[in-house]
Parts: sequence; structure tokens; C-alpha cells
Amino acid sequence: MDHKNHAQHRICVVGAGHVGLVSAACFAELGHSVVCTDNDTKKIAALKKIQMPFYEPGLAELVAKNIKKKTLLFSSSLDESILKSDVIFIAVGTPPLADGSADLTSIETVARTIARNLNAYKLVIEKSTVPVQTGQKIKETISRYRKNNIAFDVASNPEFLREGKAVYDSFNPDRIVIGVESKKAERILRELYAPLKTSVIVADINTAEIIKHASNSFLATKISFINAVSRVCDLAGANVETVAHALGLDKRIGKQFLQAGIGYGGFCFPKDLEAFIYISKKIGYDFGILKEVKKVNDEQRTYFIEKVKERLWVLKGKKIAILGLAFKPDTDDMRFAPSIDIINTFLREGAHCVLYDPQAQSEAKMLFKGKRVRFASNVYAAVKECDCLCFLTEWDEFKKIDFKKVKRLLNNPLIADGRNMFEGNALVELGFEYIGIGK
Ligand code: UDX
Repeated sequence: MDHKNHAQHRICVVGAGHVGLVSAACFAELGHSVVCTDNDTKKIAALKKIQMPFYEPGLAELVAKNIKKKTLLFSSSLDESILKSDVIFIAVGTPPLADGSADLTSIETVARTIARNLNAYKLVIEKSTVPVQTGQKIKETISRYRKNNIAFDVASNPEFLREGKAVYDSFNPDRIVIGVESKKAERILRELYAPLKTSVIVADINTAEIIKHASNSFLATKISFINAVSRVCDLAGANVETVAHALGLDKRIGKQFLQAGIGYGGFCFPKDLEAFIYISKKIGYDFGILKEVKKVNDEQRTYFIEKVKERLWVLKGKKIAILGLAFKPDTDDMRFAPSIDIINTFLREGAHCVLYDPQAQSEAKMLFKGKRVRFASNVYAAVKECDCLCFLTEWDEFKKIDFKKVKRLLNNPLIADGRNMFEGNALVELGFEYIGIGK
């Protein structure tokens, strides 16, 4: 990255999760001096030894490189890290509460800590996905708890990175959104991203926060829309993949996020959708479309299970191979993964499940501890003597499977393709019974 002619800042990133850690490494690579903090001391100790807390392609290399260059440090002392920084990114967790609202306790704590350590002007930037008007609350909190009149600014700079492609997305964003209240804050944010050549959208803080809500909700809506179409395709004997391809060629619609299947999971879409529905209601709007998006998404899992049951008749005593557990490929993240509900239903109905995932195996072991599941070390060990093979995550590894070998190993040649990864006809020709979604 060429950053020689750009102003450099001393940045503190609070929170070493997916957003915080990736951002910290990328800002260091852009030439800034970054300290990444987390209150999980074990995580910080591991990071100092270049042990990543989650799997993300390219991240460990980027962290190693910048630790070596001394542009990236890890610390468990938030006070100290704030004191020596002029820019603070808040990237702590905002987990969902039972009513769908986001738990903002960690953000409030960080705001108070910043207030306590306000030794010079600081730009405080929220990067976590937060309900609209959180920026305002951060500002009020710092003003209330600071012991002096030192100036500060609050800004919103939502993150759009995808897990599994986080490093690439950080260096190649479609746009950078900055929600600011002062020219100074705008200038600093532009300097932070100066080496990246992309559109910068400058807005007020509330608008920037809504852009994040609206982006994730729109993408989730696109997925649920094509999933609803897939249901009609199944009923009408049509093919959703051809429909999606034709739809996507219309530039107003676009090709991406039209992949029908068992629906979206992960820590962003389900949580952010709930939070947007909740906050909209709170400020006076009933966001009916989004409730429907969630309903369609939930139904896709049940629909998939029903399709499998239709072929196997009785699940009790059946052995089902599950390939793919993570909520999507290139991550070990199992949070809100559709695989969890699907496997739990199979288990409840008395089936045995043999699980395999290239990365999420350890996460899954904790999740299914004590349940009637077995873990296999590879695809072929997983399918051996099974009555059905389900694909729940579209890992590249699965695209290279030797299906003739799989056919010999299975007890019953039934494939349920929850991600529409394969050409059904080709598998039928090999002697499989094939279940796809909307095709
Ligand atoms: C998402 C947004 O893409 C990102 O901009 C935001 O910052 C965080 O949330 P992420 O959750 O990492 O990123 O994954 P993404 O690649 O968007 O996929 C989300 C889910 O949708 C996955 O479960 C995926 O399998 C599913 N999906 C995606 C579909 O079912 N069909 C599609 O066509 C696309």
C-alpha cells in the first residue's frame, strides 16, 4: 500500500472481534500506528503470538507483518491505549437481547472509559453495527463523564466487510460511509482511508447509522425474496437458478445475493434485521417487510427438513451425513448457522448425524457436546453407510468430491443440496436421488 504522502494517525481499536481485529490490521497496513485492545486478556496474549481468535483468510499474515513493522500492537489496557491515541474506533460486541434490541452495555462502558481518559482532542468513531441514534448517546455519555472541557468528536463509520472475505473487503470497499458533525472529523476520517480509492459518502451520524441498517436489511430481503421464489418454482416445476440468472442480468437488480437455499445465518443479518425492526418500532414505524423476510428465512430450514423427510419417510434410526456446518464458506463461524436448527431437528426426530466441516469442526464440537452426533475427519469418512447426504455450506472443497466414491460409500444414494451447489441432473445420472431448492 502506498501511504507515504498521507497523514498518519495514532489509532486505538477497541474490541478484537471480526470487525475490530480486521480493521486494526488493515489500518496498520495503510500506514497508521494502531493499538488493538480487548478486555479478554487471553485473546490479547494469543494475538501477540499471532494466534488468531477465528479463521479469516489472509488475516494472520497481515497481523504478523504489521506486528513486525511495529505498526500494530495489542494491549489489554484500554486506559493506556486511549491516552496515547487521537482516533478511537469502537468495535465491541452488540449482542442481541431477548426482545430483539441490541445490548449496548459494552459501548456505554467504552464511552465512559474514553471520557475518563480524555487528555487531548480525540475522534471517537463507532464501527460496531449499532441502532440509529447510538452516536448521539456516545456523545452525551462522554460529555457527561469527562472531567474537563477538552474537545472531542463522535462519528459513525459503519463496516461492510463480509466474514471470509474481510481482508479483501477492507482494502476494496464499494464505498466508505462517514457520519460526522464537524469538518475536522470529516478530514480525519478521509485521512484514515486516504490510500483507498473509492467513493466516500459523507452524512450526518444518524444517516450513516441507517445506511448500515438498510444495507444489511436489503441484502437479507434479496435472499428471502429469491427463497420465496424458489418455493413457487418447486410448486410450478420451474428452475430458480435460471430465474435468478435472468433477474440478475437486469442491472437494476444485480446478480449477487440471489442464491436460493436454506437461508442466511451468521452474526450480522439475523441480529441486524431484528435490531432494525426493533428500533423502527421504537421510533414509530412498523417494518412489516422485514418481519416477512425473517419469516421466509426461518421457513427455508423447515422446508429443507421436510424435503429430506419426504424421501426418508421415518428419520428415527437413520444415519445422516452433514457436509458443511459454518453459516457460509471460508469461516469457522457457527453463529446462527442454519445447520444448527437442521441438525437439531434431525436429532430430535431420532436420526444419527455424522458431521464434517473444513474449518468449523471445533466450534461445532462445543455446540453439539453431549448430543447424538459423530465428527468425521473428511468427506468420505462422513458419508460412509449413511442414508442421506446433506450439503449445508458451499465449501469449495465439496465441489471436488468424487461422487462415484460417495455413491459406493452411502447406504442410500440420497443427496439433499441445501445450497444448490450441484447440477442435479448430473448426480441423477450417476444414480443419486437429488433434492435441490427450487429446481
Ligand atoms: C454480511 C454483509 O454481507 C456485510 O456487508 C456486513 O458487514 C455483515 O453481514 P456476512 O454475514 O459475513 O456479511 O456474510 P454474507 O456473505 O453477506 O452472507 C450472509 C448469509 O447469507 C450467509 O449465511 C450466506 O450463506 C447467505 N446467503 C448469501 C444466501 O443464502 N444467499 C445469497 O445469495 C447470499
